[in-house]
Amino acid sequence: MIQPLLDLPEASSDQRSLSPPLKWAGGKRWLVPYLSSLYEPHRRRRWVDLFAGGLALPLGLKPDKALLNDINPHLINFYKWIQKGLEITIPLVYDREVYYAYRRRFNDLIQQGLWQTKEAAELFYYLNRTGYNGLCRFNQKGEFNVPFGKYKKVNYQRRFADYQEIFQKWEFSSLDFRHVPLQTDDFVYADPPYDVEFTKYSPEGFGWRDQVDLAKLLAQHPGPVVISNQATERILRLYRELGYELHLLPAPRRISCNGDRQKALEVLAVRNL
Ligand SMILES: C[S@@+](CC[C@H](N)C(=O)[O-])C[C@H]1O[C@@H](n2cnc3c(N)ncnc32)[C@H](O)[C@@H]1O
Repeated sequence: MIQPLLDLPEASSDQRSLSPPLKWAGGKRWLVPYLSSLYEPHRRRRWVDLFAGGLALPLGLKPDKALLNDINPHLINFYKWIQKGLEITIPLVYDREVYYAYRRRFNDLIQQGLWQTKEAAELFYYLNRTGYNGLCRFNQKGEFNVPFGKYKKVNYQRRFADYQEIFQKWEFSSLDFRHVPLQTDDFVYADPPYDVEFTKYSPEGFGWRDQVDLAKLLAQHPGPVVISNQATERILRLYRELGYELHLLPAPRRISCNGDRQKALEVLAVRNL
């Protein structure tokens, strides 16, 4: 049964939000008002974000307790360094040659097994702000291969004190979602890579099998669960068959390939709320 969205508020800016320190594909800042109304009555519970990415939701909701997980180890390394009080000391200049020199250095650190160092966290921040669209892609050899991004100007920051304060209350992990240790009382939010219909494997390597495993795993969780995803036919069927309550929202992005500029539909699949 697809519920109308009358019980959820219109999107509005949230005073308490901190904007994410990184650019991250699939950022869900626009969902903060919706998730806020769902999480508010459960604030005493730990917020678990299985696909935390750019942290748009936790930075908007500011839970007191949180476990923020993402399979990307470089992303989580950067957040862990912010927790410890990261201050960037490498020169931050928007320049093509500097970009490629830093990219080489970052890849050398990975090769040498030094990806957890402060230097790797600093380089990761620079590459994220400066690379094409904030993408984070690696080739078959495990090398970061995103090209230089064309911008008018890039604003870099060296200190992350606002973030450090709140990150100290939170835990970070870098695991596949199946291995995140959930507690029965957790409020679990999952924002997996979008389901791309008619393909078995998505470009991010997150395929249909993963979508099914996620939906089944969270159908077992005794506490509140919210999953956000692209509202494809098969995703709606999967969530409906597992007993989730479905809410459809117009997403801020458009369906570009069919030329009619129709807004893409997002689904929020919820249970135990
Ligand atoms: C749509 S993004 C999440 C965006 C995030 N909600 C935000 O607002 O910035 C999906 C994330 O899932 C992560 N991811 C992909 N496969 C995963 C897996 N098997 N387990 C955990 N995280 C995974 C990716 O690294 C990516 O950051």
